[in-house]
Amino acid sequence: MESMTFVLFGSTGDLAKRKIFPALYNLYAEQKMPQKISIIAVGRKEMSDSDLQAYVKRSLQTFSRSIIDDETSLADFLNAFRYSQFDATKMEDYQSLRDLVEQREKELHIPENRMFYLSVGPEFFDLIALNIKESGLGSTKGWKRLIIEKPFGHDLESARLLNANLTKAFEEEEIYRIDHYLGKPMVQNLEALEFANPVLQTLWNNQHIANVQITASETVGVEERAGYYDKSGALRDMFQNHMLQMLMMTAMRKPNRISATDIRNEKRKVMESLRPLTKEEVGLHIIRGQYTSGKMGGEPVKSYLEEPGINPTSMNDTFIAAELWIDNSFWSGVPFYIRTGKRMKEKSTRIVIEFKDSSQDLYKDQHEQVAPNLLIIEINPNENVTLQLNSKHPMTGEVEPIKVNFTSNNKDVPEAYERLIYDAFRGDSTFFAHWNEVELAWEWVQPIIDAFSEGSVPLAHYESGSYGPKEADQLLQNTGFKWWLDE
Ligand code: BG6
Repeated sequence: MESMTFVLFGSTGDLAKRKIFPALYNLYAEQKMPQKISIIAVGRKEMSDSDLQAYVKRSLQTFSRSIIDDETSLADFLNAFRYSQFDATKMEDYQSLRDLVEQREKELHIPENRMFYLSVGPEFFDLIALNIKESGLGSTKGWKRLIIEKPFGHDLESARLLNANLTKAFEEEEIYRIDHYLGKPMVQNLEALEFANPVLQTLWNNQHIANVQITASETVGVEERAGYYDKSGALRDMFQNHMLQMLMMTAMRKPNRISATDIRNEKRKVMESLRPLTKEEVGLHIIRGQYTSGKMGGEPVKSYLEEPGINPTSMNDTFIAAELWIDNSFWSGVPFYIRTGKRMKEKSTRIVIEFKDSSQDLYKDQHEQVAPNLLIIEINPNENVTLQLNSKHPMTGEVEPIKVNFTSNNKDVPEAYERLIYDAFRGDSTFFAHWNEVELAWEWVQPIIDAFSEGSVPLAHYESGSYGPKEADQLLQNTGFKWWLDE
C-alpha cells in the first residue's frame, strides 16, 4: 500500500471520535495501514498536536474494539497525528493546511498521495472540495481521493448540484461515497453467497423466487437528531441510500468479474430496471408511517410528535414500506418489499427470500404444514444465513419446516468504517456508492418526495414497539404474501 497523507476534516466531531479514530487504530494494529502515513486532523477548535494526540487516545480507550496494551506501538500510532485549526470559509486556513501537509510529506519522505475525509456537515462538502482545489491542496504529483458520507443532497436537484460542484474539484473515480451499509460484512457477503454458490445462483431469479423482503427495523427513536430527522424522515435517511443499496446488492446479476467497475455496472442495471413510480401511483406502492407512543422493553415511550425538537404537527415519516418491481427478464413478476422504521419491535436488518412452492399438489392434504423455503440473511445485529427447508418429523411423520443455519461467531470482525477506510487506502471502490447509483436512487425516490410534500399519501400511524402500521401488512396481502419473521 502506498504511503500517503490522510486529512480528516471535522476531527473533533462525533463520527471521528466514535468511528474514524478507532478504525484507523485497528487498521494500524492489524498492519493494514500504509507503512508511512501522515494524519492531519483538521478542526475548528484550538488545539496543540499533543492535545489532539491525547484526545485520539481517549477516543480509542472508549470506542476501539481492540484493547490497547502496547504503549510503544500506541505512541507510534499517535505520533502520526498533527493538528491544524481551520475555518472552512477562510482561504488562508487552506493555505496553512497545505503548508503543514507539504512539510510532513518532506519530513516523512512520502509521495504526494492525499486522502481528504470530510467528516463535516453536508453543507460544507462542496465548499471544502472546491477550496481544496483552489488552494492547491489538491494539486498533487501523486493521487488524491475524497471521502464523504451521506446525505448526498436532499432531493434529486440538490444532489445533482452537489455532484456538479464536487466534480469540479475531483474526478468521479477519486470520490469515495460511504454508505456504511455497504461496509457491513453480511452485505459484502451477498455477492459471494449468490455468485460463489451455483446452487443459489441457479435459483436466483423469477422462476424460483416468489418475493424478496428487505427489512431494517430499529428500536431507537429520533434520538438527539430532531433537527435533521424531522426534515429528512425514513425516506431520505434510510430508504434512498441503505435500503436501495441492499436491493441492488441482492438483485444484481452475475458480473463479468469481481471488480468495482463490473459490480457497479450490475448494480446500476438494477436501478435502471426499477419500474418508475409516478406521483399519482405512490400511494399504491408506498406506505408512510409515524410512531405513536407505546412500550419498548416494558417501558413507556413518547410518540414522535412529543419528542423534543419535533414540530408537534409534523407529518414526517419514521417508517416506510414499499413494493418495487424490477422489469428485466430475471426479476419480472417478483415483488421486492422493503421496509424500514424507527421505534419498531426489534433491531434487525435482514433479507428474506421466499422461494416458490412447487410441492402443492404432492402435499395437498398436508399443505397447511408445508411452509415455503426461505433463505434468511441476517445482517445486523446478528450475522446469520439460514435456509428454511421442509422435513418429515421422525415421530409424527408430518412435514415441518427445519432450519439449516450458519452463524458467524467471530465477534472481533472489523467494523464497517475499518473495512471501508482500508478499501479507500487501497483505491478499491467496490463498496462505495457510485454517483450513477446515487442519482438513479434519487430519481426513483423523487416522485415519492413530491407526493409526500403535496400530502397526497396518507400518514399511517403505528404503535412504538410494533412491526409498523397495518397498512404495511396490507401492502403484501395484495399479492398474497406476508412479512416473514414478525413474531
Ligand atoms: C444511519 C441513519 O445512516 O443509519 C440512522 O442516519 C440509523 O438514522 C442508522 O439509525 C442505522 O445504522 P445501523 O448500522 O445501526 O443499522
